[in-house]
Amino acid sequence: MARMAVREGIEIVYATPHHLLPPYDNDRSRILKAVAKLGDALRAARIPLQVRAGQEIRMTPEWLREAYEGRLLPLSGTSYALIELPSAGIPEHLAHAVHEMGILGWQPIIAHPERNREIARHPERLRPFVEAGALCQLTSHSLTGRFGNETQAAAMSLCKRGLVHLVASDAHDCKRRPFELRAAYDVLEGRFGKLYVQRLERNARQIAGGKRAEASSAARRRPWTSVLAGWVNGR
Ligand SMILES: [Fe+2]
Repeated sequence: MARMAVREGIEIVYATPHHLLPPYDNDRSRILKAVAKLGDALRAARIPLQVRAGQEIRMTPEWLREAYEGRLLPLSGTSYALIELPSAGIPEHLAHAVHEMGILGWQPIIAHPERNREIARHPERLRPFVEAGALCQLTSHSLTGRFGNETQAAAMSLCKRGLVHLVASDAHDCKRRPFELRAAYDVLEGRFGKLYVQRLERNARQIAGGKRAEASSAARRRPWTSVLAGWVNGR
C-alpha cells in the first residue's frame, strides 16, 4: 500500500484505524506504537512516504469518557479529530459532541457523511454541524462510483450544497479499496471544474501543515464551454 501511495503522488498518509467500533478497539497508545513501527519499516525500505497517526472515532456515547481518559487521538500534529457516524442515522448526541469537541480544542472532521443513510436522503441535516464548525470529508470511492450510484449521487449533492471540505482515500488494501484519490479528484474536476478541486486539495495540505482549512463553497456545474475546452485539450 505504501508503494502504491507513492506511485499515486501521495506524500503523507494519516493512518486512522477504527476506534469504538467493535471488534475494532484501537486506542491512542496502540496506534502511536504501530505507526512508529511502520515509520521504521518505511525508512528501512526507503519508501518516501510519511505515515502519521490518527484515529477514526466512532461517535458512540462513550466517546467523551474515552476522550478524558486519554484514549482518543486527533490527527497527529493537528487539532482535527476524525469522527465517524453510524451508517444508518445521525446520532442524537452529535450536536452535543461537536460542542464538547470545541471545549477539548478539537475540530471534528466527519468521515464519509455521504455513506450515512439519513444524510444521503436528507443532505441538509448535515448543515447545522458544519455551521457549528465540523468539516466534512468524502471517501474517494464514493466519487469514483465503487460504492454505487446512490452513494455517488449523495456525494455530489453534498458538494453542490457546499457541505464538503475534503476528500480522503479511506484506503483499506491494494485491491478492493485502494487509494484512488487522483481518480476521485478527476471525477470532481470533470463535474465542477479545477478551482473546486484545488480548494479541496488545499484544505488537505492546510490540515497536514497544522493550519486551518477553508470554509466550503458550493460546487457549481462546469460551464459547457470549459467542458468543451477540456475535451479539446484531452481532459
Ligand atoms: Fe469509516
